[in-house]
Amino acid sequence: MRSLFEPRAIAVIGASGNPEKIGYRIVENIVRSGYGGGVFPINPRGGEILGLKAYADLSDVEEEIDVAVIVIPAGAVLSAVEACGAARVKHLVVITSGFSEVGDLETERRIVRTAREHGMRVLGPNIFGIYSAASSLDATFGPGGITPGPVAIITQSGALGIAMIGKTATESVGLSALVSVGNKSDVDEADLLEYLASDERTRAILMYVEGVKDGERLQGTLAEVTRHKPVVVIKAGRSKRGSMAAASHTGSLAGADEVFDSVMRQAGVLRAESVQEAFSWVRYLASTPLPPGDEAVIVTNGGGIGVMATDACEKHGVLLYDDQAVLADTFSGVMPDFGSSKNPVDLTGQATAEDYARSLDAVLAEGRMHAAIALYCETALFDTGRFADLLRDVYARYRDRKPIVFSLFGGERIDAVIRDLRGEGIPVFGDVYEAVSALGALYRVRRRIREAPEEAEPIDLPIDEIRAVLRGARDGGRAFLLAPEAARVAAHLGLDMPRSIVARNLDEAVGAAGEIGYPVVMKIVSKDIVHKSDAGGVALDLENEEEIVDAYQAILRSCRAHVPDAAIEGVEVVEMVRSGVETIVGARQDPSFGPVVMFGLGGIYVEVMKDVSFRAAPIGRSTARAMISDLRSYPLLLGVRGESRKDIDAIAAVVSKLSHLIDRCREIADIEVNPLIVYDHGEGTRTVDMRILIKQPKGGERT
Ligand code: COA
Repeated sequence: MRSLFEPRAIAVIGASGNPEKIGYRIVENIVRSGYGGGVFPINPRGGEILGLKAYADLSDVEEEIDVAVIVIPAGAVLSAVEACGAARVKHLVVITSGFSEVGDLETERRIVRTAREHGMRVLGPNIFGIYSAASSLDATFGPGGITPGPVAIITQSGALGIAMIGKTATESVGLSALVSVGNKSDVDEADLLEYLASDERTRAILMYVEGVKDGERLQGTLAEVTRHKPVVVIKAGRSKRGSMAAASHTGSLAGADEVFDSVMRQAGVLRAESVQEAFSWVRYLASTPLPPGDEAVIVTNGGGIGVMATDACEKHGVLLYDDQAVLADTFSGVMPDFGSSKNPVDLTGQATAEDYARSLDAVLAEGRMHAAIALYCETALFDTGRFADLLRDVYARYRDRKPIVFSLFGGERIDAVIRDLRGEGIPVFGDVYEAVSALGALYRVRRRIREAPEEAEPIDLPIDEIRAVLRGARDGGRAFLLAPEAARVAAHLGLDMPRSIVARNLDEAVGAAGEIGYPVVMKIVSKDIVHKSDAGGVALDLENEEEIVDAYQAILRSCRAHVPDAAIEGVEVVEMVRSGVETIVGARQDPSFGPVVMFGLGGIYVEVMKDVSFRAAPIGRSTARAMISDLRSYPLLLGVRGESRKDIDAIAAVVSKLSHLIDRCREIADIEVNPLIVYDHGEGTRTVDMRILIKQPKGGERT
């Protein structure tokens, strides 16, 4: 990727002398941005474009070209790609639209195939270009005038990307790179991230994503990059639902967005709700040192905004310093008499600008206080000009050592101060929540950088034996496992399933119940009936022979009525499991991210509240525990209202096993343990039912 960002020479195929054309704008931006390498406009008419010699044909250029920007009509692109291949170009930046985004996948594929045959990579098509501060290169058709700086932006939306150039100017955000990925026919975010991770100029990365193609690779790359640099993502399309909605809980709950959200969090990526929030975060993250410790102090001249900031700190995971003796000592002599040294430190409306600056200084000079949240409500006592100078001074002295966020609130004069200070790159916000959210993002980055990578836990699964069971089902023409087959897989996984015997007639059912011991459950066994309860194929809590007889007949009657042609193999008589907390563990092949695992509490928690969490598989037990604790209903597992704590470690073991299974057996489409009954701490779990769907025909198996 280095030669894409730092090319020695660049050609523009479709360069034009007509200022109305994109081919003109691109050459103009390249020239104006101060790019030091060779620039070769290609135009059939030859001549001169913007003072540069134009070549009628790429083959006329003698210098080695690293990047060819292609900006000619779609129908001519493929032959231009061939010409680039012959000229040993390294990267193609295909601006042209009119390929897969309008349904022409075939030409796009041919472009990529031809390029790859010649060892070239393709950025685009359907993009606005690339800006790289490393080589002062603006090869976009944006408005120009990009200020170099520490933020890299990767965007899938062209229009939003171009608009971001203007936004970066008004927000004083300097860019290290701006890359439009468009249709992502070849080069995608993961490729670009690998370069940006090692680029010293880049201190924070912002990605705008619409759809993910190779999510497994993206997740792996992001997980690596975020250990060194912050990555903020904005993703559109929160409401899309997964395609296997009806097949399972995991499927219906694994809406594209829920999985995206969890996987991004797992990879240490910060997801912003809006473009504004994303900008605010990257701007702050790129220019602020990590806090040396966990505890922040709020300094305010207004009680109300102090309370608001305290709420925001709780929401964004910012801890407040609360050693009262140290606080009293720190602020004695620097704050007015009526003030309160409790955090939030309230200087009151009586404070002068000097009191304010001295108090802020006291926080920042104190080694036990690690970050400052400076809030100010406009008062008549302050000379705003002098106040702004004091803030500048404090910021200049501590900017490299400790994080500070300023939030100023008032009328026109304060708005002018905010504008001026922001323009100078000082982190001043008009809104308290926005200020604390930026500091919260910085704390999340700190936690991510400091957290130890999860140790790979060796997990020994009898994959060959499990595959043999899956093969049996597939050979039988089924896309799902029958209960006894699923039970065999469960046994191989070491999941504790209730005892069960398949009975082919009533006599055998009675015998089986006697052998297992009452009470028992009875379930229909038929490859034609997947949703057993819906078909009336399940009877619970059967206490004696008489109840077995009644239930047996009722099950058969109901199933025949429900699915008249169903081939019924018999009924399964199962040990009735003692009650506990019902949970669901699922795993599936996600269309974007590959193998993912899900956990949720059963009943209304899953059905109504959709309270589930996901991770990209495989995961070890500690990640599984973190995933379990993500649930809103987690306190139920910890034990509420006198209930005892449940066996969370045992759940984590099941989640981890399923995650490894779905990762290693890619032929499994979807697997669900539902319910997994959880008992008190130390008493384990029972797998009451397990359903496995397999891919037909053969999926990519991994050994
Ligand atoms: N080699 C070199 N130059 C060529 C050429 C070739 N094979 N074929 C055509 N040209 C020249 C043309 O002669 C013209 O130069 P001129 O102005 O001197 O006559 C120039 O390339 C452009 O060709 P033209 O036919 O005028 O196309 P255009 O400028 O109207 O449109 C695109 C070209 C690429 C801009 C257009 O097809 C397109 O895709 N637009 C959408 C771009 C977009 O929005 N991208 C996504 C942004 S997010």
